[in-house]
Amino acid sequence: MRIHQYDNAQQVGQAAAILIGAQLLTKPDAVLGLATGSTPIPTYQELIRLYQAGVLDFSKVTTFNLDEYCQLPPQHPCSYRHFMRQELFSQLNLPAENQHIPDGNAADLSAECAAYDQAILSAGGIDLQLLGIGRNGHIGFNEPSDQFVYGCHVVHLTQSTIEDNRRFFKREEDMPRLAVSLGVGSIMNAKSVLLLATGKDKAEAVRKAILEDIDPSTQASILRTHPNVIFLLDKAAASLL
Ligand code: F6R
Repeated sequence: MRIHQYDNAQQVGQAAAILIGAQLLTKPDAVLGLATGSTPIPTYQELIRLYQAGVLDFSKVTTFNLDEYCQLPPQHPCSYRHFMRQELFSQLNLPAENQHIPDGNAADLSAECAAYDQAILSAGGIDLQLLGIGRNGHIGFNEPSDQFVYGCHVVHLTQSTIEDNRRFFKREEDMPRLAVSLGVGSIMNAKSVLLLATGKDKAEAVRKAILEDIDPSTQASILRTHPNVIFLLDKAAASLL
């Protein structure tokens, strides 16, 4: 496990983009695991800049997003599909057929989850998984629990996640309570993992993930057993280490 600390979120984004860029230069057809939320936005902006500058090429890249809300139309401005199109995909030469996001509106969500895990396997597995971390220590939407769930699954979002993410919705009652998320097993199967955390709100989750017992009550703590994980933190997120 490596931990790199930076002064600000911008630098965290640049460091993440350098590592993702290095992955694409060594393997142009890399499979990337991607996250949504506020944390990866500086990373995505830097990747777009490097693409526009002619440094990076996404034409052979495949991506799998971590999660998606259930019962939210894909064109809804708060859906993760919409977020990814807005913040990244529409500005890269990443083929639409290579962009994968779980379908939270599938009639049979268990079948959708099984198919999503299978699609990752068929693509050869994730080379590099980008993660944020929830204030409650979640990765993807793997919420605090008494167990780690291996595969893609349907999740009941906890109150703390609902409170954190409701800022994106007009009214709290509009925010879905259910989501589909990659499991911790699929995340751990990635060949390398980059966890980004910025801001003082993440400091306690980062402390628990890095310094306390490996325990499903802080799902990110399992990352310490990954052979190739890097934590990129700003000063505020690292302040309790
Ligand atoms: C997003 C995801 C979540 C977020 C986490 C942090 O796809 O899987 O685990 O990474 O909730 O969200 P932000 O970055 O908005 O603080």
